Amino acid sequence: MNKNNIEQLSALAFNAQKNSHSPYSNFKVGAAVITPTGEAFAGCNVESAAFPLGQCAEATAIGNMVSQGHKRISHIVIASPNEEFCFPCGGCRQKIAEFATDDTPVTMVSKQGQTHNTTIGELLPNAFRAHDLEK
Ligand code: THU
Repeated sequence: MNKNNIEQLSALAFNAQKNSHSPYSNFKVGAAVITPTGEAFAGCNVESAAFPLGQCAEATAIGNMVSQGHKRISHIVIASPNEEFCFPCGGCRQKIAEFATDDTPVTMVSKQGQTHNTTIGELLPNAFRAHDLEK
């Protein structure tokens, strides 16, 4: 785990968390990714009065990254609104895996700044990826 990545991405994720649009759950999440070339992108969750349309913070951060022309995540940090770690939902694990390798670090950071480090391969073993479409 790269400590500098965690510090930089935590700051970006908590900053994005402030902008969370979550009037229905009141659960504010922030996320930030960094690419292999050092560009960082953040996002927050964006809910909708049509509940199923809500988007997770990880998806927003990834969308921001892809919109700026980047396709690789070298680390992702997810900032929780409370003292518990906010692990990515199943759908977001798949979204992260699309742009990551099994050993890509995933760091959860609590409101108090405690961290839990893992990898996307741990969170989503045997991920379905592009190469599976080629067989
Ligand atoms: N949420 C995220 O943004 N990321 C996660 O990893 C888990 C859940 C959001 C979705 C919804 O807006 C709110 O948190 C409550 O589920």
